[in-house]
Amino acid sequence: MLKIGPVPVDPPLILAPMAGVTDRDFRLIVRRIGGVGVVSMEFVSSRALVGGHRQATDVMVFSEEERPLAIQIYGSDADTMAEAARIVEEVGADICDINMGCPANKVLKGCAGAALMGDPRLAEEIVRRCREVVSIPLTVKFRLGLDSRNENFVELGRICEANGADAVALHGRTAKQMFGGSADWSKVAELKEAVSIPVFGNGDVREADDAVRMLAETGCDGVMIGRGATRNPWIFRQVEARLSGGRIEEPTLEDRRELILGHFRMVAEREASRFALHKLRKFTGWYTHGLPHGRRLRQRINQLPDVDSFLAAVEEFFEELAIRQAA
Ligand SMILES: Cc1cc2nc3c(=O)[nH]c(=O)nc-3n(C[C@H](O)[C@H](O)[C@H](O)COP(=O)(O)O)c2cc1C
Repeated sequence: MLKIGPVPVDPPLILAPMAGVTDRDFRLIVRRIGGVGVVSMEFVSSRALVGGHRQATDVMVFSEEERPLAIQIYGSDADTMAEAARIVEEVGADICDINMGCPANKVLKGCAGAALMGDPRLAEEIVRRCREVVSIPLTVKFRLGLDSRNENFVELGRICEANGADAVALHGRTAKQMFGGSADWSKVAELKEAVSIPVFGNGDVREADDAVRMLAETGCDGVMIGRGATRNPWIFRQVEARLSGGRIEEPTLEDRRELILGHFRMVAEREASRFALHKLRKFTGWYTHGLPHGRRLRQRINQLPDVDSFLAAVEEFFEELAIRQAA
């Protein structure tokens, strides 16, 4: 069984960190459906965490049911990152992950995220300092490099390994690409050849069979899935079924209804209504993708003023679909 340090990753699948998405509700949903080895929290600013800012400490909430859980931190100051890593261990995360792949401007300007790929010495210092202070497994997530002329993922992988990282995850795009083009899985294979710690391949796994193909084509130890899970939170269970030689079961309409309403009730309970509505619109867009008449629901919910009318519209949508299916 694949392990990151002593932490089992079974099956060898990780829910990728996604800001604004992999909050406690979504992680729980994915965990309850099953088939995921490790779930990741959305990234947290090391500076905000060390400063005790509410915006950072508020998101650091998780339940036992989510384990094993990775918390990702970002930042460009080695001392602050080390202190943040210590806090991550203290709150009880199973894995501390360092972000070196985020291409967002807000993060790049602070010389964090993918910008660290442009400064391997600083990247090395950060991994080393974090390693010195935590005893839980340490992982690093990065991209191919800043741009196609500066692809230093192999160098970075070796730096991580030499400084005590327990695993690395590679998103097969450069920072400059953002989310354009397609992820180059051959680079995942290259990294796997270059290091002996576990390598997780990441990028463009949309269907269960993509994950199986990535494992076979690259020889990577595990697969990290991001956007594929937002449209299809069942993807992990489906990959698991494939890996053990089984068939992929598609969720029924009833499964989808339960998932959407269950998720939305969780959001409604926890969030102030303005934020809840924003979140519900975003997730409805993903969850109804590919469903017959999904677009009609998506258009309708844009005009709804509050969470209750939102939930009612979703119920109605599924009732209509069920009637149509039965007809
Ligand atoms: C909405 C969104 C938020 C993201 N936030 C993070 C983040 O906080 N930390 C990180 O390392 N990557 C982040 N990513 C990148 C994903 O973890 C992943 O590397 C990328 O989406 C490629 O994988 P995929 O094709 O499976 O989605 C984010 C991606 C999306 C779409």
